Amino acid sequence: MTQRIVITGTDTGVGKTVFAAGLAGLLDGFYWKPVQSGLDGETDSEVVARLAGLPSERVLPEAYRLRSPLSPHRSAEIDGVAIKAADLAFPVLPTPLVIEGSGGLMVPLNRRTRLIDIFAEWRLPVILCARTTLGTINHTLLSIEALRARSIPLAGIAFIGDEMADTQRTIVEFSGAPQLGRLPHLDLLTGKTLRDAMIAGFAFASITGGD
Ligand SMILES: Nc1ncnc2c1ncn2[C@@H]1O[C@H](COP(=O)(O)OP(=O)(O)O)[C@@H](O)[C@H]1O
Ligand SMILES: [Mg+2]
Repeated sequence: MTQRIVITGTDTGVGKTVFAAGLAGLLDGFYWKPVQSGLDGETDSEVVARLAGLPSERVLPEAYRLRSPLSPHRSAEIDGVAIKAADLAFPVLPTPLVIEGSGGLMVPLNRRTRLIDIFAEWRLPVILCARTTLGTINHTLLSIEALRARSIPLAGIAFIGDEMADTQRTIVEFSGAPQLGRLPHLDLLTGKTLRDAMIAGFAFASITGGD
């Protein structure tokens, strides 16, 4: 079966895009950002294209490109756009697909639907990106409870940042969720340093659930 994996996070700015770029590069797969909020500067798709070293056709067009860097529900309202769940069906491709959510799990797409509702429909395995800094135990355990309450499969946690051994252990022990690995903070973030850090920080089979 072709691998499809959803990258979510405990919050916005935790490092989902950088991790997704590293993973898409390792898998030599496709990347898809269904809802992009904010078009000034580099979009997540552009960051991934730059960091993952993927040919441009491997970065699929976003389903929604919203101008304001706000929660998608509000950004869509400002643009006069209604985000429809039907437009967020994931593409079926012959190679692995890495899908990046917007913000965290409870982010609204419109006044009725949150991102986690879409993930519950998809039923794809999710990797939860979590900071290692103070506050992450609470955010990560809450996110895992929300996923489990909806029977969304959790592939595991990808920690982002410098090692905090007790914090990581505490999250794993309370949640019982697997720790897939850790991507350290890279002072120099390039395609090469990212790829090397992904290889050093993650067991490839544990991420992909296979060989
Ligand atoms: N491992 C890392 N090393 C260095 N900088 C990182 C790393 N992960 C994320 N960043 C930086 O932190 C910021 C937020 O990361 P990003 O991946 O865009 O988060 P998210 O997609 O969760 O909003 C960006 O400026 C990004 O370059
Ligand atoms: Mg992102």
